[in-house]
Amino acid sequence: MNRLKTLTLAVAATALAATSLTAQARDFRLGLITPPQHLWSTEAEAFAESLHERSDGEHSVSVYPAQQLGNEAQMVQQLQTGALDMAFLTIAEISNRIPDFGALYAPYLVDGVDHAAELLRSDTAAELLELMPAEVGLVGLGYGMVGMRQVLSRAPIESQDDMRGKRLRITPFDPIRDFYTATGASPAPLPLLEVYDALANGQVDAIDMDFDSILILKFHEQADNLLISNHMMFPMVGVVSGRVWRELSVEDRELIETTMAEHLENVLTGFQEMDAAQEEEIRQLDLNIVEADAEFFSEAIAEWEASWAEKAPMLEALREEAERLRQ
Ligand code: BEZ
Repeated sequence: MNRLKTLTLAVAATALAATSLTAQARDFRLGLITPPQHLWSTEAEAFAESLHERSDGEHSVSVYPAQQLGNEAQMVQQLQTGALDMAFLTIAEISNRIPDFGALYAPYLVDGVDHAAELLRSDTAAELLELMPAEVGLVGLGYGMVGMRQVLSRAPIESQDDMRGKRLRITPFDPIRDFYTATGASPAPLPLLEVYDALANGQVDAIDMDFDSILILKFHEQADNLLISNHMMFPMVGVVSGRVWRELSVEDRELIETTMAEHLENVLTGFQEMDAAQEEEIRQLDLNIVEADAEFFSEAIAEWEASWAEKAPMLEALREEAERLRQ
């Protein structure tokens, strides 16, 4: 599918008016929640540099990492009013507003980071992005991701029973809350940058996290047990405010779309390339490691599927696509 054509269709109501707009120099603002050393943040900076160069210095992008502009819910509001131009957002916040995106969090939908990246590059995943302009007023230009989700805990988790009653940190969104509730854990929504202190002061017993964040934010200093479960993928989406998009010339839209898509692709390949080495590095730490698969969570998965198959009808198509990619 031609993504540019799709996006142009998605804003069809204003496309004709916009074609008459001439390019105007802009200083865009891009917000994200990850710390400056995270790959999302460094690729956001690299996108800013590429856009500046490719627009012959006409456009610039100021990048605000580490939640400087607020949490993702607040950033989505700013994007909707046009107070913020662009963002790299976890799909978490989008799935709170468009439940169909919850399908991307189906437990064991994908087998690992390579499979996740392939699914996110598929036309089926691109179809989800087409829901964004009408349903949240944002234009989604492509996906990034982090590595697969794991569970780091203060006490060992050797069976689903060990999760019962544990206060377990989650990123604030519904599909993951429902998954952990079904395991018997007590989900505690906390933004990424509050997790270290919450683990250190015992506010939570365990965290849902990816290898990369465990390493760069040093969560392993505060918990000794790791359940390598690879139970969910964790996509990100690069977005532009729909209001801002409508003000841009067709040439500027094309430039922003191709440039952002290139840097989002760098995020996908970056996590594909880092995953094995990060797992190896984590296995070298002094952690008690247990491995889990879909069987480990079978009851919780059945409960999750029963409620999300209905809330997120795209689940079926994504599952079929994931299966095709396995062959
Ligand atoms: C998290 O909430 O766990 C998270 C968010 C963004 C990047 C990595 C992890």
